[in-house]
Amino acid sequence: MDFRTQSASLDTLAGINADALIVVIAGEALPAKLDKAVADAAKDAIKLGDFELKAGKTLLVQRAPGVKSARLVLAAAGPASPKSAKAAVAAALGLVKARNAAHAAVIYVGFDGLDEALAEQTALAAADAVYTYRHTKPSAPAASALSKLTLLADKAAAKAVKLGLDRGQAIAAGVELAKECGNRPGNYATPTFLAEQAKALAKSHGIKVEILDRKAVEKLGMGSFLAVAQGSDEPLKFIVAKYEGAPKTQAPVVLVGKGLTFDSGGISLKPGAEMDEMKFDMGGAAGVLGTLRAVAELKPKLNLVVLIPSCENMPSGKALKPGDVITSMAGQTIEVLNTDAEGRLILCDALTYAERFKPAVVVDVATLTGACVIALGGVRSGMYASDDALAAALTAAGEQALDPCWRMPLDEEYEEGLKSNFADVANVGSRAGGSITAALFLKRFTSKYRWGHLDIAGTAWKSGAAKGGTGRPVGLLTHFVLSHAK
Ligand code: BES
Ligand code: MN
Ligand code: ZN
Repeated sequence: MDFRTQSASLDTLAGINADALIVVIAGEALPAKLDKAVADAAKDAIKLGDFELKAGKTLLVQRAPGVKSARLVLAAAGPASPKSAKAAVAAALGLVKARNAAHAAVIYVGFDGLDEALAEQTALAAADAVYTYRHTKPSAPAASALSKLTLLADKAAAKAVKLGLDRGQAIAAGVELAKECGNRPGNYATPTFLAEQAKALAKSHGIKVEILDRKAVEKLGMGSFLAVAQGSDEPLKFIVAKYEGAPKTQAPVVLVGKGLTFDSGGISLKPGAEMDEMKFDMGGAAGVLGTLRAVAELKPKLNLVVLIPSCENMPSGKALKPGDVITSMAGQTIEVLNTDAEGRLILCDALTYAERFKPAVVVDVATLTGACVIALGGVRSGMYASDDALAAALTAAGEQALDPCWRMPLDEEYEEGLKSNFADVANVGSRAGGSITAALFLKRFTSKYRWGHLDIAGTAWKSGAAKGGTGRPVGLLTHFVLSHAK
């Protein structure tokens, strides 16, 4: 989509010539300065009982008298905030996208001082509105006619709006990549496919990419990753991608994404209901690839390394069995009590591999536990951090991006359950506190650097009628990475 900004003021809206003019209004009253034709249309609709200045209310008026744009869309936001603005503009775009409107113009009324955040969220909302999964459903309704969005703002806000739109557009490109990777079925989005996506980014965005195959992974001694992959006929891949925007002397941010392109549970087979959704078990991989894309488009002065261990978790005669003891790259032995706790097994070796980059910080991202879905649902991702400053940075990034997370505890008492009589550690504890024990398992492999962990099991995709990848946590991660620019 083509995003632009144009300077305009509240009292000249009637003259804007778009296919749809979207007016997002905060507060409970129309501002005095609002263009008369627009205000009259709003007042008339309020009088008729068709519209209210209450969060969530929208109205589409065709050929409103005196308004040049063919469609006028009013969207009430309630109290002014980037979050309320995004919800309102998304609702308005929902009305517009189904119509034959190519060009939408958006203005925010009553949101003083929020220009940059609003511009970012507008770009994201617009990209979200027009995304349709088509790869294996060519019969899906034709893509929306909406192809151009102009954000109207004061002259004084032009710089902030431009910054916000650029960032929003880059994040939207990353979100789109993440959604597309997630939505593709497991027989399309294989480890090889993810590796190809990384290679495509190398070509289009000048990133360095290296794909390690089974042999290379064996040579590195990633016994834990190999053990998960051994039950599947689909070749594993370990993806290493580097964005270099700063001198080599600057320590990189390292992002690690869980890339299970299908998680059947292995010999500890999952129940059949909703097992299809385990094609989304590469949501962490999709999220870090999307972030890499967003960062590469924005070209900040920093270094970023993305690591993706990718394979399938399948039952077979060769598959890992409950009770097997495997040896991780770090040398720690692991008793596999449940082959369905496989994410931590592929991540622990990637976390050990991350040491070689002498990272400023490592954050791993994974659809790791059903327990996290129970704890936090689909609103906030679970977040763990080795120190308070990192936790604060991840929290702030999530709030700025409207892609929020919530800090979870790492008390060592929770680790009790990971004790094993046959290995240094077991791969599962008791059911209680399952997201926390999973994080504590990973923590054992992160002593060499500052470490954060996002459990995105509840946020990476939606179930039900709107089943599909969300593109989260590309927004959070992009903001987090950008905060490291010098
Ligand atoms: N990929 C799943 C976690 C998951 C489950 C994410 C449901 C989203 C929805 C992970 O590999 C897994 O199976 N975890 C187990 C761990 C358990 C065996 C300790 C789980 O959460 O049930
Ligand atoms: Mn599993
Ligand atoms: Zn899994």
